[in-house]
Amino acid sequence: MDVIKVEGGHPITGEVTVEGAKNSALKLMAATIMAPGVTTLKNVPNISDVHVMGKVLKRLGATVEVVDKHTLRIDTSNVDKWETPYELVVQMRASTAVMGPLISRFGKAVVAMPGGCDIGARKIDMHIQGLEALGVEFEINHGNIHASTPHGIIGDTVTLAFASVGATENLMMASVYAKGTTIIDNAAREPEIVDLANMLNEMGAKIRGAGSPVIEIEGVKESLHPVTYSVVGDRIEAGTFLAIGGLVGNPVTVHGFEPIHLGLVLKKFEKMGLSVERGNHECTVWREGPIIPTDIQTLPFPGFPTDMQAQTMCLLALAKGSCVITENIFENRFMFASELQRMGADISIEGHHAIVHGVPSFSSAQVKSPDLRGGAALVMAGLVADGITTVSAIHHIDRGYENFVEKLVSLGAHAERDIVPDEEAALAD
Ligand code: UD1
Repeated sequence: MDVIKVEGGHPITGEVTVEGAKNSALKLMAATIMAPGVTTLKNVPNISDVHVMGKVLKRLGATVEVVDKHTLRIDTSNVDKWETPYELVVQMRASTAVMGPLISRFGKAVVAMPGGCDIGARKIDMHIQGLEALGVEFEINHGNIHASTPHGIIGDTVTLAFASVGATENLMMASVYAKGTTIIDNAAREPEIVDLANMLNEMGAKIRGAGSPVIEIEGVKESLHPVTYSVVGDRIEAGTFLAIGGLVGNPVTVHGFEPIHLGLVLKKFEKMGLSVERGNHECTVWREGPIIPTDIQTLPFPGFPTDMQAQTMCLLALAKGSCVITENIFENRFMFASELQRMGADISIEGHHAIVHGVPSFSSAQVKSPDLRGGAALVMAGLVADGITTVSAIHHIDRGYENFVEKLVSLGAHAERDIVPDEEAALAD
């Protein structure tokens, strides 16, 4: 079993460059289905979720050529299937992002129904209701969602009950060829939505307002054409390394993303006593005084991202005092807290609130990644714990962080990937 071993207490400082955003790359890959031909995507992170999306596209009949580590050439000319099987959806829920593109290109799609997952139920009812409003008909049987468009896709106004990222993206993609204009009201505003809209527009779509709560999609008749497009920098990978700067104290500079995409995160870091220097496509964080307890609540963009909650909890667990973290997006996203408690943190969970009482230090322990961001935050905690922390279930971390250990080592960390023998693995599990 692969683990990450990290020895705490070594000086950490320096510069790292982040990769393209996982949450954008996956949707851009799905969107290539809508532009038959060869689309070249640059700045694609080399992470396991991207590999799964590659498998999804190949299963549909596309070819995916790896030009270099971060460039994919995706040929969707011969896509002739519209079914995404359970074994891929179960590996990665974002596989459901092909539903909108398949409906656009073929007027139909069969996508395995995603089940529950570690961070909550993660339903797709809003995707379905929104698409129904545009004339898509659904049947659910044998665990699969069958979508068809007997009367075509007809533009209408869809008001989302919650600004869901996935629903906004599927609706945006499904309505590109609709008759008339589609309006998505209460749309998600994440930078990755803007990235997707920008690429679709370069391909020939007519999307206005992405990044605002109202997105307008004017249906086009002509088929979208392939483009060469570069994925936006990963704000969450950036936020993770900046949080590390705040944790260790010495400056950590992150290149390759837009600090504005971490607007509220950086504001909260400042409230927490961290120093933040924003630059052009880069940012530096360090800390001189103690960590100041600060309440956090996760909300859709531009609110505080749920994907930065665990890393921030790691910082606040060492604050001088107590504060409350409220998780409003996913119901099970506090599993990280119980692992951090094994390292000496004092956190009590009440529903979707975590009451965090700062402790002076962490002690090293064997801990298990509960999910992608929680796993990264455990490695982060290990950087300042006494002794060696062993983090297991690191396949979660591999889903979203490319060369995480190598980047930490380049900052001065004493960390390595290791394969532990079975009896030790049993303990770590
Ligand atoms: C995306 C991101 C994820 C991020 C999340 C919120 C990807 C691959 N993943 O996930 O990293 O944490 O946005 O910023 O881009 N919901 C419903 N019904 C629906 C859709 C969503 O109840 O039809 C609920 C979900 O269960 C969840 C909440 O709404 O509790 C947010 O979901 P959503 O914004 O759709 O997140 P994802 O697109 O799944």
